[in-house]
Amino acid sequence: MSDKPYRPILILLTANWLTMTGSALVVFAGVVLLFLIPVHMSGHVTNPYSGLLAFLIIPALLLLGLLIIPVGLIVARRSGVAVMAGVVDRKAAWRKAVLFFGVMTAINVLVGGQLSYRAVEHMDTQQFCGQTCHAMTPQFVSHARPPHLRVACVSCHVSPGAAGYLKAKTAGTRRLMGAIFDKFERPIDYIPGQEGSASSAETCEVCHARETILGPRFRVLTKFADDETNTRTETALMMRVGGGATGGIHGAHLAPGITVRYSATDNKRQTLPRVEYTNAKAGISRTFLAAGSTDASTKGLPTFVMQCADCHNRVAHSFELPDRAVDRVLASGEIAPSLPFAKKIAVEILQAKYADADDAGRKIPVVFEAFYRQKYPQVLAARQPEITRAGAALLAIYRQNVFPELKVRWGTYPTNLGHMTSPGCFRCHDGDHATPDGKTASQDCETCHRTLAVDEKDPAVLKDLGIGTAMK
Ligand code: HEC
Ligand code: HEC
Ligand code: HEC
Ligand code: HEC
Ligand code: HEC
Repeated sequence: MSDKPYRPILILLTANWLTMTGSALVVFAGVVLLFLIPVHMSGHVTNPYSGLLAFLIIPALLLLGLLIIPVGLIVARRSGVAVMAGVVDRKAAWRKAVLFFGVMTAINVLVGGQLSYRAVEHMDTQQFCGQTCHAMTPQFVSHARPPHLRVACVSCHVSPGAAGYLKAKTAGTRRLMGAIFDKFERPIDYIPGQEGSASSAETCEVCHARETILGPRFRVLTKFADDETNTRTETALMMRVGGGATGGIHGAHLAPGITVRYSATDNKRQTLPRVEYTNAKAGISRTFLAAGSTDASTKGLPTFVMQCADCHNRVAHSFELPDRAVDRVLASGEIAPSLPFAKKIAVEILQAKYADADDAGRKIPVVFEAFYRQKYPQVLAARQPEITRAGAALLAIYRQNVFPELKVRWGTYPTNLGHMTSPGCFRCHDGDHATPDGKTASQDCETCHRTLAVDEKDPAVLKDLGIGTAMK
């Protein structure tokens, strides 16, 4: 036997319980990473939060393991463990080491691999995004409506492939840490193009080709007045959606060769003082500045290239305003339009302040019924079930749109698809954004839609088309 101590690394690692714990952590983290990294790299896993597992927690465990091992070795040397001196029963020491690492690895491959695969799979689901993370409840609730209810969160929020990959991981990780430590802003504010989120080319346009020519689209908006009979009126618009080279709303901003770039002063991008329009094919380039803005005053503002979500910003999360929401349930009959003053009372009740969701749940149906008890007792007596159903419909509207705990209230998330309830199209088409030679983005009422009827009772155009108000 030579004098040199016999201390192979595997045997040293089984010197005491500390080195063994450290080694176990290293093996565990190693195996999990071996499973996670290829799945991530393949682009199959697109949820940013699984990045937390792959890039934060597991590497932290790996590091911890690597730190514990030398501590264990020092402790072992101090306490004079035989292995450290290198004079041991080699056979027994090897048996111990092989048994330890063999069993560790086998367990990890079987259990750890399965677990991490399941965890990653789970993180890609809507349940994880919308429910595990309480902060996103409003988006989860609003997403559960047609037509995108079965489109996974990640299809719109994370770009596939390697490019968006790292960006999404870090942004998602930051968000999740925020949620864990209760340090996220309320209401949650999502800024596509920053935050590692996806461009519409990689999300919307996977299902909806930009080149699609949609042509004109007919829109009927049904409204109810706040008089005793809830007078019903219709607004009929022919939207010039167009598309591609045909122009129209889509073509004007998205046709091949056209780029609209804008600068914003706020996170919600409601104030856009500078807009650049280029049409490479026609060789046109124009800069529109809002009144009072200059090149210097808009310098350094964050700039975005216009894409689908700039107009369709509420596409999967359409939060309503009380007026519109009540019109919707009156039109569908969930609240009977023949209930006197139903529109007026319903909107007033929705607009009242409630401490939290429970408070609203207790009060809304009760207050609605109380109105009929006081003012129309005969109606209540004759139509109790209808009034109860109406109260429930009203509460449902509240629950889909207002989340006091998360500071999501009426109008928190404005829609950009229009110009009546928020600036929308008029963020640029306000007649106030002009080029140096005075050209403005058109505000002419016929540019975007042919207005066939505005708040008319039984408009002739609907009769001509055979779309009576009773017909769907
Ligand atoms: C069909 C596409 C689509 C799907 C599916 C989708 N979202 Fe969104 N989401 C959007 C768009 C568009 C925005 C708004 C971006 C903006 O403000 O410009 C958004 C915004 C958000 C925001 C920021 C707050 C807000 O309302 O603006 C959160 C949080 C969010 N989504 C979470 C989710 C969750 C959770 C799911 C799955 C349950 C989901 N999204 C599914 C398109 C989608
Ligand atoms: C995974 C596929 C998929 C993705 C991703 C997707 N959509 Fe859709 N979208 C659909 C389907 C399917 C429909 C329903 C088509 C139908 O019923 O005619 C739809 C419907 C729509 C409609 C019609 C809405 C309505 O209320 O009738 C709009 C607008 C729309 N999508 C815009 C978008 C935008 C903007 C994005 C990206 C933020 C997006 N979609 C992402 C599949 C998708
Ligand atoms: C400049 C704003 C704008 C941009 C950008 C835009 N859209 Fe639209 N889009 C509209 C308007 C306005 C309508 C008509 C909607 C209405 O009246 O409800 C429309 C209609 C649609 C419809 C038909 C909806 C229906 O009910 O039939 C689809 C689908 C659609 N857009 C998808 C997209 C996709 C996908 C993109 C990105 C490639 C996109 N849009 C970009 C403004 C825009
Ligand atoms: C970020 C600024 C911006 C927003 C927001 C915006 N547009 Fe535009 N839009 C433009 C610019 C710039 C042009 C091109 C003006 C020009 O021809 O020089 C344009 C052109 C158009 C045209 C063609 C006008 C014509 O004279 O042929 C239509 C139609 C249109 N937009 C509809 C819409 C609709 C509908 C919305 C809202 C859903 C909208 N736009 C929102 C910037 C914007
Ligand atoms: C830049 C494009 C654009 C211009 C210019 C424009 N509109 Fe609109 N308008 C829209 C869009 C988009 C909607 C939303 C359609 C929808 O809700 O589906 C809309 C909706 C409407 C509605 C129905 C909205 C409601 O909720 O009651 C009316 C009424 C209307 N516009 C009138 C006008 C008038 C009047 C003008 C001229 C001052 C005008 N519009 C100019 C794009 C435009």
